[in-house]
Amino acid sequence: MPTVREIQRATGDEPVTMLTAYDAPTAAIVDDAGIDVVLVGDSVGNAMLGYDSTLPVTLDQVASHTGAVARAVDDALVVADMPFLSYGTSEATSIENAGRLVKEAGANAVKLESGPHTVDLTERLVELGIPVMAHLGLTPQRVNQVGGYTQQGTTEDAAAEIRDLAEQHEAAGAFSLVLEHVPDEVAASVTEALDIPVIGIGAGSETDGQVLVVTDVLGLSESVPPFAEAFGDMRSEMEEAVAAYRDAVEDGSFP
Ligand code: KIV
Repeated sequence: MPTVREIQRATGDEPVTMLTAYDAPTAAIVDDAGIDVVLVGDSVGNAMLGYDSTLPVTLDQVASHTGAVARAVDDALVVADMPFLSYGTSEATSIENAGRLVKEAGANAVKLESGPHTVDLTERLVELGIPVMAHLGLTPQRVNQVGGYTQQGTTEDAAAEIRDLAEQHEAAGAFSLVLEHVPDEVAASVTEALDIPVIGIGAGSETDGQVLVVTDVLGLSESVPPFAEAFGDMRSEMEEAVAAYRDAVEDGSFP
């Protein structure tokens, strides 16, 4: 399995591959395909639980999905996303919640949607032995503050702030950084500035790796963000299989 240390050093020729998974069968397929990092994202809210944002997702839900993924994965690094307000309200609660995802659910590391408020917390979690993946650029838990899922870092000041926060999180001990929906040149300059790997989503091709949401990749999502790509058409395959079953029962050919 790639360890946190191996991922941390993965800034060379071979891009880091990362994909979300939320359940055991999908996680096993992702792992068998040789994906380096499986993220149990809070995108489970939109992708699996029928919410229209990640905000309602609870720690119990992430813990439950992380447990399913961790039980199915043999090789990949399993990273659990800390859901909205499960961190940042108080240090003790943040540590307990991150600890639960590692101790009870079996995650190897946690991801925090980062900002000025997560620098000290990142340092503290790392000090306690909980590896942290940072996340900057578009941070969907701030949708109400930002007013949508728009590209971030589009002004010089905003890009400089992202770069500065990225460096602060690296210094605080984060082993990698997800950079979401920023201009390609901003992602390239953050990647250049950091020694830890930058894993992009909607951030161009100059990062050290890529991450996408598995239901988008499989062609199962009802709508896909402009920067994602479907590499399959699972929705049609599932529709066909369900319709074939219905027809077989109705016409008596099954059982
Ligand atoms: O929740 C998630 O799936 C994520 C990825 C899109 C990086 O944060």
